[in-house]
Amino acid sequence: MSSPNILILGAPGAGKGTQSRRLVEEFGVEHVTTGDALRANKGMDIGHLDLEYDTPGEYMDAGELVPDPVVNEIVKTALEAADGYVLDGYPRNESQTEYLDSITDLDVVLYLAVDEDELVRRLTGRRVCEDCGATYHVDFDPPAESGVCDECGGDLYQREDDTEETARERIRVYEENTEPVVEYFRDEGVLVEVDGERTPDEVWADVEDAVEARAN
Ligand code: AP5
Ligand code: MG
Repeated sequence: MSSPNILILGAPGAGKGTQSRRLVEEFGVEHVTTGDALRANKGMDIGHLDLEYDTPGEYMDAGELVPDPVVNEIVKTALEAADGYVLDGYPRNESQTEYLDSITDLDVVLYLAVDEDELVRRLTGRRVCEDCGATYHVDFDPPAESGVCDECGGDLYQREDDTEETARERIRVYEENTEPVVEYFRDEGVLVEVDGERTPDEVWADVEDAVEARAN
């Protein structure tokens, strides 16, 4: 099987990053994630676009979407360089969906379904390794030693947008802008819906099956 082009959709905290890491290991694809790319460029000067804020970080800390021209460019460059990918965090609105359609073909579209209260619990308890990006949860998936990464020994931190207030705003922005994207792929008949409210291993079993069934 050649490396598949996978899109993973789901609300903030649904487990897109968690499942994407497994897809990378199992299928040898590139993890293309706008959230991580933007976090690495939070202070980038986008003042020339003459919009509400002058850096991606200001949009992110408010829980709002970063302007389309910035994220479209990131995705185009990353997809061109990838031989098979899992795309996580994009597209998040109708115009990004049209743009994606114009630059690539998808083999699989996954959707992780999780309720809002569970999303907030996951986001507010999330901890991330500052060195390798491994993700933990203080209750659901704690590291052996508090604050220290099991995989590389790096320090764990809490994302600035993982406060309860910003998490709820991100979910609101998701419902308004990104749920129509989910419905678009559902209407196209290509959406594979997975119950994301189970353990990571149980979710993975369905994710792996879906990719194996469609990526030949
Ligand atoms: P981004 O980084 O993409 O955040 P998000 O979409 O809000 O999603 P998350 O990363 O919060 O959730 P996830 O689904 O990856 O969950 P995870 O696996 O970590 O975007 C951040 C910001 O960047 C946006 O708000 C926006 O400003 C900007 N941005 C990004 N892309 C953009 C775009 N295209 N256009 C415009 N702006 C853009 O899991 C969460 C937690 O749950 C973890 O603690 C994990 O351990 C735990 N967990 C995972 N799975 C399970 C499970 N099955 N059971 C129990 N716990 C679990
Ligand atoms: Mg993520």
